[in-house]
Amino acid sequence: MAIWVVPMIYGDVAEPRSGGGTKELDTAWYDARATFYGDIHGGGTQDGACGYGDPNKEGYGLATTALSTALFNDGYTCGACYEIMCARDSQWCLPGSINITATNFCPPSYSKTQDQSCNPPNKHFELSQPMFLKIAKDKAKNVPLRYRRVPCAKTGGVKFETKRGPQNHLTILPYNVGGAGDIKAVEVKGSKTGWIPMTKIFGQIWTSKVVLTGQGISLRIMTSDGVSKDFINVIPPNWGFGQTFDGKINF
Ligand SMILES: *[C@@H]1O[C@H](CO)[C@@H](O)[C@H](O)[C@H]1NC(C)=O
Repeated sequence: MAIWVVPMIYGDVAEPRSGGGTKELDTAWYDARATFYGDIHGGGTQDGACGYGDPNKEGYGLATTALSTALFNDGYTCGACYEIMCARDSQWCLPGSINITATNFCPPSYSKTQDQSCNPPNKHFELSQPMFLKIAKDKAKNVPLRYRRVPCAKTGGVKFETKRGPQNHLTILPYNVGGAGDIKAVEVKGSKTGWIPMTKIFGQIWTSKVVLTGQGISLRIMTSDGVSKDFINVIPPNWGFGQTFDGKINF
């Protein structure tokens, strides 16, 4: 008698991707440098390569940083939180540390006349001026740093902003993410579909290849440490593009 081994089909269960499994956040201290941009009121902090729009509106305030290529990881690091302190420069450093969220990219510059601080392989933080002045003296332009990843302490639930993707494909910006803070995978489920992996367009903007207009939406978010959370029916069926929904829970 033949025994048939039937492979199990895990219909709706998402496979862990990108290495799967949880891993602790690496909270060791490393060296970098910092400069600042914008003015004392935090002007110049809007928009940017993470897709967050106005970080003030989105709860990140001025406690944000742009990261150089060596730290930005093609936008996967957007939303990560760092504790930073000025170090080993007695002329310019102030004591104490600050905690900041990565919300932007500091692009490399290959023109000799411009600042090269953010060029690879430099690990560089470009802070808003008010944040820079908490760790370094006025007139310091470029200081050595110690930095480490810290868990993101966020108030309230993860927020999801709907965006209109190509061909009206549902596109999502998750923000106010606690825990590791940076997202490595997103899946979406319409009330009439199974779980569908989303693709990162840039920063933390994720798109699906499906039109989900008129369906209730659930989202599954996995942060860089491998922790995954489901936000079931977080978006009601009458949703529109350009709206923000509260996930109620956080990492
Ligand atoms: C920054 O985060 C760390 C780790 O959560 C915490 O111990 C520290 O008190 C925070 N620092 C500030 C200035 O909030």
